[in-house]
Amino acid sequence: MMGHMAGRIGGVSSSALAARFGTPLYAYDGDALRGRYRRFADAFSRRPPLICYALKANPLKALARILAREGAGCDVVSGGELARALAAGFRPDRIVFSGVGKSEDEMRSGLRAGIKAFNVESAAELALLARVAGRFGRPARFAVRINPGIRAGGHAHIVTGVAATKFGVESSEALALYRNAARDRRLRAVGVQCHLGSQILSPEPYRRALAALLRIADAVGPLEHVDLGGGMGVGYDGGAGLSPEALARRLLPALRGRRESLVLEPGRWLAAPVGTLLCRVLFLKSSSRRRFVVVDAGMNDLLRPALYSARHRIAAVRPSRGSLLVDVVGPVCETADYLARGVRLPRLEPGDVLAVLDAGAYGSSMGSQYNSRPRPAEVLIEGRRARLVRRRERLADLTRHEL
Ligand code: LLP
Repeated sequence: MMGHMAGRIGGVSSSALAARFGTPLYAYDGDALRGRYRRFADAFSRRPPLICYALKANPLKALARILAREGAGCDVVSGGELARALAAGFRPDRIVFSGVGKSEDEMRSGLRAGIKAFNVESAAELALLARVAGRFGRPARFAVRINPGIRAGGHAHIVTGVAATKFGVESSEALALYRNAARDRRLRAVGVQCHLGSQILSPEPYRRALAALLRIADAVGPLEHVDLGGGMGVGYDGGAGLSPEALARRLLPALRGRRESLVLEPGRWLAAPVGTLLCRVLFLKSSSRRRFVVVDAGMNDLLRPALYSARHRIAAVRPSRGSLLVDVVGPVCETADYLARGVRLPRLEPGDVLAVLDAGAYGSSMGSQYNSRPRPAEVLIEGRRARLVRRRERLADLTRHEL
């Protein structure tokens, strides 16, 4: 791939960023994030949904704040994410709380904050939520997450909307949950939710899922909202990804004349394309079978290639000639530690900077210190300005909590 795509991030040159902040480095284009949020919202402007950013994609405060200021809501899956969402300025009544294993503590935090809805995933969870809400003295607003049995999404690890996965409850059980809750003053049914999976590139599964959610709403209503979850895919291969305009065209007709508002929970679609992982070439080596480019970022920094065989585009920042078929590998002691396999890159030298594209979602957020590697620095670019928003971890951070 040519360098021109990777040469700049927003208004700043990638090599300047690498030189100033060091590598590996996560760099985010704040203007692009704002632009993507606005495009998504504009696509639905005839019937504005609540766009609840799935914080797990990237919980960085600097990014969350941008979206909160735009008026976005937030989808959280833990007490930690709830605390981050509140600190970033998301309005509590725009926060939904998902996840198959919420603790009592987490339920209490959600009630205390006054969130929009708990997305409940089992009878046992709903029973516990009722007890916690009873003690708390405030009814718990909830939506049942149904498992609509629609197959969609990319890799097997991120398919969720089928009965063989742990997520949600089947529609028949959902109806029973709503009926029982209707007699329970500690609970208030406000919505119905589903999440089909991730990296979905067609609007069609969403249309079918919306029909399933509306059938439930008809049976148990009135409800305030229907929540289709996230999963909107991006073009990791350079393609356009799921078009929010096409999604809106497919969904809005079904909502005509209906009272329920629409909630969506995109994570990847908003964050992935605005983030780049910059790394530096350490060594070149080859075996009789392959050429390797060893870089200073590894699977602890970006796990997606190792975990899902994800293919992120990777590009040399400095324009150079030639083209070689290479594997880009990290320093971690695992065979799976690669960033790209079998890709064409120009002739490289140690010290060259490479840009791994579309790394803004599930990159930093799934990062670890495996092999005792401090987490990288993260910077936010707005206009021509780059600002450090998470400092590079120091060696002392590795042992900070050890006694
Ligand atoms: N809502 C719920 C309930 C979810 O479980 C998820 C993601 C989302 C929204 C946001 O999905 P998105 O729009 O980002 O696809 N680590 C994997 C993705 C896991 C997604 C988990 N749930 C990856 O790197 O591909």
